[in-house]
Amino acid sequence: MSQMIRFILNDDYIESSLHPGTVVLDFLRQDQRLTGTKEGCREGDCGACTVLLGEPGAAGGQVVEYRAVNSCLLPLGDVEGKHLVSIEGVNPSTQVDDTVDALPLTPVQQQLVDHGAIQCGFCTPGFVVSLTGYLLSARRWDNEAAVDAVAGNICRCTGYASIKRAIAELLAQLSGSQDSDESTDNPSSGHLERLVALKVVPEYFLTIPRRLQALTAPGLGDPRSRSRTVVAGGTDLFVQKPEELVESSLSFVSKTAELRQIRVDKKRLILGAGICMEEVKDIPALKDRIPQLVAALPLIASVPIRNRATLGGNIVNASPIGDFTIMLLALGAVLGLKNGKGTREVPLDRFFKGYKKLNKKPGELLAWIALPLEEGFFSFEKVSRRRHLDIASVNSAAWISVRDGRIEKARLSAGGVAPIPLFLARSSDCLTGRPFSEELLEQALTLIHEEISPISDVRGSEQYKRLLLRQLVLAHFFKLFPEKLHPEVWI
Ligand SMILES: Cc1cc2nc3c(=O)[nH]c(=O)nc-3n(C[C@H](O)[C@H](O)[C@H](O)COP(=O)(O)OP(=O)(O)OC[C@H]3O[C@@H](n4cnc5c(N)ncnc54)[C@H](O)[C@@H]3O)c2cc1C
Ligand code: FES
Ligand code: FES
Repeated sequence: MSQMIRFILNDDYIESSLHPGTVVLDFLRQDQRLTGTKEGCREGDCGACTVLLGEPGAAGGQVVEYRAVNSCLLPLGDVEGKHLVSIEGVNPSTQVDDTVDALPLTPVQQQLVDHGAIQCGFCTPGFVVSLTGYLLSARRWDNEAAVDAVAGNICRCTGYASIKRAIAELLAQLSGSQDSDESTDNPSSGHLERLVALKVVPEYFLTIPRRLQALTAPGLGDPRSRSRTVVAGGTDLFVQKPEELVESSLSFVSKTAELRQIRVDKKRLILGAGICMEEVKDIPALKDRIPQLVAALPLIASVPIRNRATLGGNIVNASPIGDFTIMLLALGAVLGLKNGKGTREVPLDRFFKGYKKLNKKPGELLAWIALPLEEGFFSFEKVSRRRHLDIASVNSAAWISVRDGRIEKARLSAGGVAPIPLFLARSSDCLTGRPFSEELLEQALTLIHEEISPISDVRGSEQYKRLLLRQLVLAHFFKLFPEKLHPEVWI
C-alpha cells in the first residue's frame, strides 16, 4: 500500500496517495485543478511554476521559514509535513473568477498592475510568488536582493524595466512599515504579523506554525536502502529523469538532521550535505572567513534553484562543471560517507574516478563535507554563455596561503576541462612552498595545460576552453598579487 503524504496546501490539509515522485506542478494543476501556477519549461529555467515552501524553522518550529521554489522540480514526497503555497494561497481571491476589477490585490500584485508590468500575464503568478517569498524570507528588504529574487522569472513580453520599477515602488511602500530593529537576530519578531497586516499574505498564514506542529512527518524512505534513489533538492534528478522517478522508490533526505548540521570540529567546519546553496550565505563561518564564496552565489542558478540545490547533490551529481564542487575542491574538502556500519572519510579530490564514476559504495549516503579552517585567499571564477543563470563553460577556484611573499600552500581546481571536476594537483604542488614570481606562474600555467583534457562541445572548442582556463587562473593571481604582475605581459 502506498504511503500517504500529508501537508498543508494553502489553507487546507491534504493527504495524498499520489506517487512521491509526482512533481508538485502536476499535483497542483492536474490533481487540485489549481491552474494559477503555470507550466513553462519544466526544467527550472523560467520561474512560471514558482510556489512557496514553508518549513518549521526557528524558535522550535514556531516560526515557519518560507522559500520560493520551482514546482516543476519539486517532488510531492518532499512536501510532507510542510506548507505548500500556490498563487491561490497568496491571494485566495485569485480563485474567484468574477469581475477582475473587483478583486482585492495584494500590494505585490497591485504594484505590478500599476506599473504596467503585465501583458499576457503568463509569467505574473511566478513573479508574484517569488516576490512574496522574498518579503517573507528577508529580514531586511533591499532593492538589489529583491531584483535577484526574481532573476529566475522570465517574462517574454513586458520587458523588465517596468517590473523593476514595480519592485522599487513596492519596497518604498512597504519599508515605511518595517521597524528599524527588525534585523536578522530575531526571526520571530512579528515579521509575519506585519506582512499579514500589510495584506502581503492572508491571515491564515498565522495559523500555519501551530498546524504544522500537529503534523508529525518523519520523512519518506530509508536513505541507506540500496534500492532507493536519494533525493535531496531534486534540481538535477528531476531535470534528468522525471518519468523514471515517478515510478521509482525514493528516499527524501531534506529532514535528515545529520545532513543539516553546521558545526566546528577539530579545526574543521562540518557542513551537512543537505545544506542548500542559498543557506550558505547565512553560515557565519563561511560569511566571515570566505566572503568570496558567498559573493559568488549570484553566479549560480536562480534563488528558487539555490533554495533547493544542496551541496551534497552538487558533488554526487558529479557534473564536471558543478560550481560548488569546484569551490570545495580548492577549499580542501573531505567527505563523510555513511552507511549502516559507520562513516568513512574521503578527500573530495579522490572522490571522482571517471565521468560520473564515484568512490561511493551502493547505499552510502554523503552525510557531511568538512572544510579545513585555514587562513588564506580564496577566489572563484566562472565563464558561461550568459553571465547569470547559466552553467559554466569553464570555472575555476583557488585557495592560496602566502607568508612573506612565499606561497605556503596552494590548491587550484577547474571545471569543464576534464571528464571530472578537476583538482589541479601538479600545478598546485608546483606553486606550494615557493616565492611567488611571474616565472613561477608561467610554470604553473604550463602544467595546467598538461593536466587538463577539454573536449569541444556546445560550450566551446577545446582551444577556447584551454584559453578560458588560463585567463581564469590569471584572474585569481591578479586578485592575489596585483602589484607583482605586469598586465602588459599577460593580457
Ligand atoms: C535551472 C538550473 C540551473 C542550474 N544552475 C547551476 C549552476 O549555475 N551551477 C551548478 O553547479 N549547478 C547548477 N544546477 C544544477 C543543480 O542545481 C546542482 O547540481 C545542485 O547542487 C544539485 O543538488 P540537488 O540537491 O538538487 O541534487 P539532487 O537532484 O537531489 O541529486 C543529485 C544526485 O545526487 C544524489 N544525492 C543527492 N544528495 C545525496 C547525498 N546526501 N548522498 C548521496 N547521494 C546524494 C542523488 O541521488 C542524485 O544522484 C542548475 C540546475 C537547474 C535546474
Ligand atoms: S516550468 Fe519553468 S521553471 Fe518550472
Ligand atoms: S507578461 Fe507575458 S510573459 Fe510576462
